[in-house]
Amino acid sequence: MTDTPISSGLPRLDAFLADGYEAVKGMSSRFAAAIVGHILKRQTALGISGGIAEIGAFKGRFFIAMMMGAAPGEKGLAIDLFNWPSESTYDEFLANCALHGIPEADMVVWKADTRDMSVQDLREKLDGRVVRFIHIDGDHSDVCLTKDLALATAVLHENGIICLDDMLHPGYPTLVATVMRYLEKNPEMRVFAIIDREDIVAAPKFLICREAAVSLYEEDLMQSFAPFHYVLGADFINHWSVVLTPRPRLAVVD
Ligand SMILES: C[S@@+](CC[C@H](N)C(=O)[O-])C[C@H]1O[C@@H](n2cnc3c(N)ncnc32)[C@H](O)[C@@H]1O
Repeated sequence: MTDTPISSGLPRLDAFLADGYEAVKGMSSRFAAAIVGHILKRQTALGISGGIAEIGAFKGRFFIAMMMGAAPGEKGLAIDLFNWPSESTYDEFLANCALHGIPEADMVVWKADTRDMSVQDLREKLDGRVVRFIHIDGDHSDVCLTKDLALATAVLHENGIICLDDMLHPGYPTLVATVMRYLEKNPEMRVFAIIDREDIVAAPKFLICREAAVSLYEEDLMQSFAPFHYVLGADFINHWSVVLTPRPRLAVVD
């Protein structure tokens, strides 16, 4: 079965997804990058502006894709230890950003451990700006995801989005419990969409925003990505989340 082609609607990002994305080593899918590019374009159209950020930028694959959705004057903050699998990751990140035309002036690269970071430290790196989109893909432990979610929530634009990687990944089966605890503590937040996996190294992402902002994104995602919409959605106890998957189908039941 061949995949239905997906487009972000951003010509520069679509060109990168067609040629270059896979060559930047990383773990996020082209499918997810296209959907996130579309969301960034929609945020710009809605007048939602602010920083773009990533915890766990690694060699830049998803960061570069997100930066192709930035509006003029917006900055990206890339956070990572940049020491895995070796110290050369930092230079590789910079080289990949340069190769794909992300100007150094548009980004802040922060070699740091989020475990040691305060909200105030983060605000200073963001120059006091709020963040309209943040991808969390750092350490996949309960302690680190809890901390990363708290940092992200503290600096989030009122209509901004937190995107969590590797949700429902068979290698990290308990991470969803961390998300459920976060949702209990932050009842205004909703997992409004789930971007399904391409495969085991390009696993599902959850998209989270405040309840009041869900309507800005939900219907648009279902319409814009209709060929990828799994119409049964996801039961998130107090609401239904949109599910987008590369090959939607329903089980044959009779
Ligand atoms: C799976 S990789 C990220 C892949 C990348 N986001 C992508 O989509 O291609 C996870 C990254 O998180 C970083 N990381 C792990 N724990 C961290 C922490 N406590 N603070 C900052 N970065 C961390 C690692 O150094 C690693 O580069």
